[in-house]
Amino acid sequence: MFLSSLRIFNFKNHAEVELAFDAAVTCVVGNNGSGKTNVLDAIYYLAFSKSAFNPYDVQNIRHQQQAFFLRGRFTAGGKVKEVECALQAGGKKVLREDGLDYQRFSEHVGKYPVVLIAPQDIELIWDGAELRRKFVDAMLSQTNRTYLLHLINYTHSLKQRNGLLRNFSESGRVDKDLLETYNTQLVQAGNYLHEQRAKFSTEFEASVKAHYAYLADNPAEDVGIRYRSDLTDKSFSDLLAGSLPRDIALQRTTTGIHRDDFLFQLNDFEIRRVGSQGQQKSLLVALKLSEFQILYNVLGVKPILLLDDIFDKLDDFRIQKLINLITAGTFGQLFITDARPERTRQILHAAQIKATVFHIENGTFTQAWLRG
Ligand SMILES: Nc1ncnc2c1ncn2[C@@H]1O[C@H](COP(=O)(O)OP(=O)(O)O)[C@@H](O)[C@H]1O
Ligand SMILES: [Mg+2]
Repeated sequence: MFLSSLRIFNFKNHAEVELAFDAAVTCVVGNNGSGKTNVLDAIYYLAFSKSAFNPYDVQNIRHQQQAFFLRGRFTAGGKVKEVECALQAGGKKVLREDGLDYQRFSEHVGKYPVVLIAPQDIELIWDGAELRRKFVDAMLSQTNRTYLLHLINYTHSLKQRNGLLRNFSESGRVDKDLLETYNTQLVQAGNYLHEQRAKFSTEFEASVKAHYAYLADNPAEDVGIRYRSDLTDKSFSDLLAGSLPRDIALQRTTTGIHRDDFLFQLNDFEIRRVGSQGQQKSLLVALKLSEFQILYNVLGVKPILLLDDIFDKLDDFRIQKLINLITAGTFGQLFITDARPERTRQILHAAQIKATVFHIENGTFTQAWLRG
């Protein structure tokens, strides 16, 4: 997939910008705060109809303005499509493809795959299980609609069941029939989700191992993903039956796939505890490149890769390996941001990569060519 042009209007700090892309690699350089990440976020918006960084849509409208508008022209499989996203303060967000408004934004998910690697993503390794579940859910939802539908059902039934548990504690009575209805729904969706997550984590682990081994180039470092779930060795119905007294006491469902975790390991220990910063960052990059691989395999379209400030995060050796990999033809279109234009120039030059560079200064974009 290729993004050939991008129009940004009153989005974050950018007033009005029209950019055309023709090289496989586009670099956006400029001082901190100049709006480099915001350009990547505009691209992310067109893919996901939301920001990667700010969950409040309205805050992405440029200060003192009433609306933002984004338009991207994408080419995939020889077809050109125009995607637009617009939001007016106080209005509803609009997402369009070739002039037609989407009724459901979920129909757009997966059509224009984008993989972003941003500094904040390190939280995926450091934080609690919820972020990791979301990361896996996002990949599975983009590649398997049945998964997405089961996930929606599960989340809904869980909410209902928890509501029921709270009612029980107020009324002092337990309506076992109603509870059984929710249990059935949870078990049906939960079993499917569990099965898919288990299968996915095995496939995903193989890809992450390979990417990590390539980046680290050290056979002594072996990374792994361990899928941990209540359902691994017990049936979900038994689990629900067994935890009922505790669920009633705590007024929430204490067992199920909403407690799953995906443990990232280095030589069988949790990497967030034993890994160096460099190892953790390499794993993060390996996770994201594997995400790219999975989306590409299933969707048959090469996602656009957005690398935000990645050169700051890796040592020179790993940068070189990453660049070699990216330019070996596996990847498609690539956007790179960097606050240090000279460094970018050197890295691209060394790798003989032809790239377009946009330099942002005082809100103005200046374009330059870089020949490898
Ligand atoms: N809604 C908004 N209106 C105006 N400026 C904004 C808005 N949201 C963010 N910004 C500004 O964008 C700038 C950060 O842009 P960013 O893309 O993160 O910079 P960079 O990646 O180049 O360091 C900040 O100065 C911030 O104040
Ligand atoms: Mg930035």
